[in-house]
Amino acid sequence: MRRKLAAGNWKMNGTGAALSELETLSQSHPQASVDILICPPATLLSRAADSVAGTEISVGGQDCHLEHSGAHTGDISADMLLDAGATSVILGHSERRVDHSEHDEDVRAKARAAMDAGLKAIICVGESLEQREAANTLDIIGGQMSGSIPDQSTGENLIVAYEPIWAIGTGKVPTLEEIGEVHDFMRTRLERRFGEGVGRSVRLLYGGSVKPSNAADIFAVSNVDGALVGGASLKAADFSGIIQALESA
Ligand code: 13P
Repeated sequence: MRRKLAAGNWKMNGTGAALSELETLSQSHPQASVDILICPPATLLSRAADSVAGTEISVGGQDCHLEHSGAHTGDISADMLLDAGATSVILGHSERRVDHSEHDEDVRAKARAAMDAGLKAIICVGESLEQREAANTLDIIGGQMSGSIPDQSTGENLIVAYEPIWAIGTGKVPTLEEIGEVHDFMRTRLERRFGEGVGRSVRLLYGGSVKPSNAADIFAVSNVDGALVGGASLKAADFSGIIQALESA
């Protein structure tokens, strides 16, 4: 029912030379039974969109402004991302919540702008190690979901990514039971808020140190519909391994 999604977040990595990875990736997956998305830095978005045109890969942004246009030096609107060829945008990543003091209400406003523009919003939630150790994980995730996800969300325009902050770029991964507990919780929250039909159609991604070697185990967890991958999305060979694991899940 939910089409699986392998999403790569290149973060602040990659210049023009990195586009060759995209070419390799599209050649490695001439046909795909899952959705494949790469979110390069904004400077590469338009070229990346051109290079994957007509392939199984789509491209997305890593953030957008909440307004359509205006006096916001250095910012990029959802309409601009769409114009550059994006289908989706990552919002509320923990790195933006920290580096740019983004709060749930900011993420929600950005998600509204993205959805209004016709983009899918990939809204990130996740607890810190301190919060997990204090057994507050589900409270934190529930609060971030209520605060960050707009009312207009549907299975078509919303994707939620669970990214425990302590698992990002660290090589540490929660146990499969812990991932399952959070994903089941997120599914229930979505069903309660939006009704069963919409709640069941929203894709839920896991993110945080996903690699070809651990992907199959993670993808076997209930309510995990794919992954949001950082480091291992930068090299086509690594990301291909993750895509293959998702296709076999
Ligand atoms: P890593 O896969 O490098 O841990 O990053 C995960 C992430 O933050 C994706 O958005």
